[in-house]
Amino acid sequence: MPPLIQTENLWKIYRTGEIELAALKGISLSVTRAEFIAIMGPSGSGKSTLMHILGCLDRPSRGRYLLDGVEIGGLKPNDLARIRNQKIGFVFQGFNLLHRTTAIENVELPILYDGLSVRERAARAGEALERVGLGDRRYHYPNQLSGGQQQRVAIARALVMRPQLILADEPTGNLDTRTSVEIMALFQELNRDGITIMVVTHEPDVARYASRIIAFRDGIIRSDRPVSRHTDAKEVLSKGLFESSKDARGEVP
Ligand SMILES: Nc1ncnc2c1ncn2[C@@H]1O[C@H](COP(=O)(O)OP(=O)(O)OP(=O)(O)O)[C@@H](O)[C@H]1O
Ligand SMILES: [Mg+2]
Repeated sequence: MPPLIQTENLWKIYRTGEIELAALKGISLSVTRAEFIAIMGPSGSGKSTLMHILGCLDRPSRGRYLLDGVEIGGLKPNDLARIRNQKIGFVFQGFNLLHRTTAIENVELPILYDGLSVRERAARAGEALERVGLGDRRYHYPNQLSGGQQQRVAIARALVMRPQLILADEPTGNLDTRTSVEIMALFQELNRDGITIMVVTHEPDVARYASRIIAFRDGIIRSDRPVSRHTDAKEVLSKGLFESSKDARGEVP
């Protein structure tokens, strides 16, 4: 089987007026199935740019990207959208939920036009909510849920298409430490079920739950290393071992 993700010398050059900015400068990366990767690096180093390209939301300026053995560069926009919907789930820092819409309706959004019956759709969405531990919050609106619960709804929405890959850009950026560890425990669980997870994070405390850490600097990969003994988030939660340094630093709103 080919790797799930393979990139060869990816470049992304943004042009704004007269100015050209190389956000990615030759990224070559291979990700096999069921890896759990944390992407780190300073602000502006190209992490989100890479996630957008890997997520087929944007195209590289140069280089090759093969997703599940398929060369993405040669695809027409419709085929690209189809592959994106089928294979990839996205999770964002700000949850990106529709506010006047219940949890279950938010989760149904990706399968709204899939020709499923109303009942099948609700069953699929309900199943995804159960999987993230929110089976009893189906009819809550986002403002009736905590930040961590809203992020779980967003993860359920990412799961409803049964993706092979979840791309999460700072998913714990708006969450306190305990809730961050809970979200990482959920990602670890999904990863054990075979889903490949890539999480962008600024926090070493969050990255240690991954099994491989890739660090960016100025559009290149500065280091790429396995985590020799990655931490089991469930165990950390059950023993109350999480560091609350993030809360103490006052970084959480
Ligand atoms: N749409 C765009 N047009 C022009 N320049 C862009 C665009 N998106 C990003 N950039 C530039 O590309 C570089 C990389 O941005 P990117 O968003 O990938 O960084 P990042 O590592 O995700 O940073 P952060 O940690 O702050 O989210 C930055 O210098 C940014 O200003
Ligand atoms: Mg970013």
